[in-house]
Amino acid sequence: EKGGYAHFMLKEIHEQPQALRDTLRGRLSPDGRRVTLPEVGLTPEEVRRLRKVALVACGTASHAGLVGRYLIERLAGIPVEWDVASEYRYRDPMLGPDSLFVAISQSGETADTLAALREARAKGAKVLAIVNVVGSSIAREADWALHTWAGPEIAVASTKAYTTQLVAVTLLAVWLGQAAGRLDEDGAARILAALRDLPAQAEQVLAQEAEVQRVASDLARHDDVFFIGRGLDYAVALEGQLKLKEISYIHAEAYPAGELKHGTLALITKGVPVVALSTQPALAPKTLSNIQEVRARGAAVIAVALEGDEQVPRHADTVFTIPRTDPLVAPALAVIPLQLLAYYAAVLRGHDVDRPRNLAKSVTVE
Ligand code: F6R
Repeated sequence: EKGGYAHFMLKEIHEQPQALRDTLRGRLSPDGRRVTLPEVGLTPEEVRRLRKVALVACGTASHAGLVGRYLIERLAGIPVEWDVASEYRYRDPMLGPDSLFVAISQSGETADTLAALREARAKGAKVLAIVNVVGSSIAREADWALHTWAGPEIAVASTKAYTTQLVAVTLLAVWLGQAAGRLDEDGAARILAALRDLPAQAEQVLAQEAEVQRVASDLARHDDVFFIGRGLDYAVALEGQLKLKEISYIHAEAYPAGELKHGTLALITKGVPVVALSTQPALAPKTLSNIQEVRARGAAVIAVALEGDEQVPRHADTVFTIPRTDPLVAPALAVIPLQLLAYYAAVLRGHDVDRPRNLAKSVTVE
């Protein structure tokens, strides 16, 4: 049942190229210049009238939502608010008929996400679910369901559900951008070409597994690890630190790279591992100076950078590379070494990788 893999998590990490292909299938026009999402029932007129999009989810799905925020604001020009579902209701969210509420959930049964969705409905918002399990509560209670086709995810730690959620929010952002008249076909075509290449590129990243495993054996000896990045790299840093915490039980924290010097830099001392993401060319010089900052304090820098980057390798102890792609699509590649890092650190520490302590696959209590 594990298809020859030691754990479901490792199997699911390796299923990502196929899951990404399945989630893309039928959603790009044959000429690669438009997204087709017949399941989303908004008319172009309604999209143009939207005053906000709310992205709400828990855990890993919320990290996909954070990526969605960047993409929708960039491509569709609609203000986006982003919250974890367990907090959302407590600030009495302002939603109405000109809001699109998007719940993101693998299981479709997460109690907090479902409760937030119900509240959005009660306030008259249009409700879309990005969901993996067909027929789940969240899929049924939304106006429309945009399915990720990750297939069953058994391991508690989410991997292929997350990367397919990234594809889904990217498709949604392009679709909204086109419907709103903000994104022309050439602009869309560039992103869609990157999505098309994504499954094969994910395979290339997976090929660095042995190297990640070697680095993990080092990392497994530490008790505190920091993850830093800017923009979309920060969103990926959040996901990387959650993966590490939940299965290896190593304390990990993610920071926007520029925020370090506002307090956390005090914790960076000799030998502390810092995982630094730099996959966004527009932000690379600033991230590089943050890498130098932690390096100067003795941090052991594990970087994730673009192939051909000449700067980052000079300042990092280890570099995992991802193929060049559209910056908006990079998160789905950048997360893969972090998933493997968490996996191997957990295995080396002797933990039950697929069933971490205290956690359930589907959280049906608030
Ligand atoms: C972490 C993880 C959780 C879930 C969260 C939401 O690896 O799997 O953080 O992402 O519990 O679950 P769903 O997506 O089912 O709503």
